[in-house]
Amino acid sequence: MANIENILEVQNLSVHFGHGDGLVKAVDGVSFTVGRGETVALVGESGSGKSISALALTKLAPRAATYAGGQVVFNNENMLELSDPELRNIRGSQISYIFQEPMVSFNPVFTVGWQVEEALKLHRKGIDRKAEVNRLLDLVHLPNRLARAYPHEMSGGQLQRCMIAMALACSPELLVADEPTTALDVTVQREILNLLSELSEKVGLSVLMITHNFGIVSDLADRVYVMQKGRIVEEGGTKQILYDPQHDYTKKLMAAVPRLHPTEFKQND
Ligand SMILES: Nc1ncnc2c1ncn2[C@@H]1O[C@H](COP(=O)(O)OP(=O)(O)OP(=O)(O)O)[C@@H](O)[C@H]1O
Ligand SMILES: [Mg+2]
Repeated sequence: MANIENILEVQNLSVHFGHGDGLVKAVDGVSFTVGRGETVALVGESGSGKSISALALTKLAPRAATYAGGQVVFNNENMLELSDPELRNIRGSQISYIFQEPMVSFNPVFTVGWQVEEALKLHRKGIDRKAEVNRLLDLVHLPNRLARAYPHEMSGGQLQRCMIAMALACSPELLVADEPTTALDVTVQREILNLLSELSEKVGLSVLMITHNFGIVSDLADRVYVMQKGRIVEEGGTKQILYDPQHDYTKKLMAAVPRLHPTEFKQND
């Protein structure tokens, strides 16, 4: 039975592509947990299996993928055993994803307000949708008038905030943010990540943050898992991973992180 304090428990998960000589173990026996209200970072270089792990949580990995073993226990349910309609239901209402490119997640011919309303129509019947769109825009610190804007009329940062508003429209319990800021400039990246961290506190959201650049999440995550070639090679508290990495690969990753002044950490770490 899963630990009740963990909203997510991934146990020994394996996801493969191809077979025989062409077998790629994209995810190779990976285990990690996310506690309720916790922000956990999954860090590793390009191709290490971060995105496939994230997608596999709700069986969204590309069609060619094989779920070769392990369990994904979310809210005490084994996701890999659920039917497609059950998974769709969970994706829409309990687990939300935000991806790197907000532009591809929006339809260019509709206003963003309309698109957030559509998400509300699907997931939360019987509420005052206009008022809820405004509440969501407030939550991500955007002026309400932007509900009437089209995606191309917004900056990258504004669009990523809308993306977060859309992800929150179904009031998820777990938000999976896969490199949500890589396409943005550094200042805007910080603003967006701060927003995610603020939301995790304000609405009790659990967050799985995925990045190849540990520097930008290092003061936001509670715990870190380091991935290399489909495996978790090291895990620990953020501070410990940053200042006292054990594994050679983690040392290399951490060497690339600009040194933060220790006081930049939250005092209660
Ligand atoms: N559709 C696919 N078919 C075959 N192999 C794939 C497919 N998608 C991913 N892979 C392989 O799975 C492995 C893990 O990929 P994944 O996208 O999870 O990496 P990542 O850690 O997210 O990298 P990045 O930081 O570049 O986003 C890689 O070796 C990749 O080539
Ligand atoms: Mg990826």
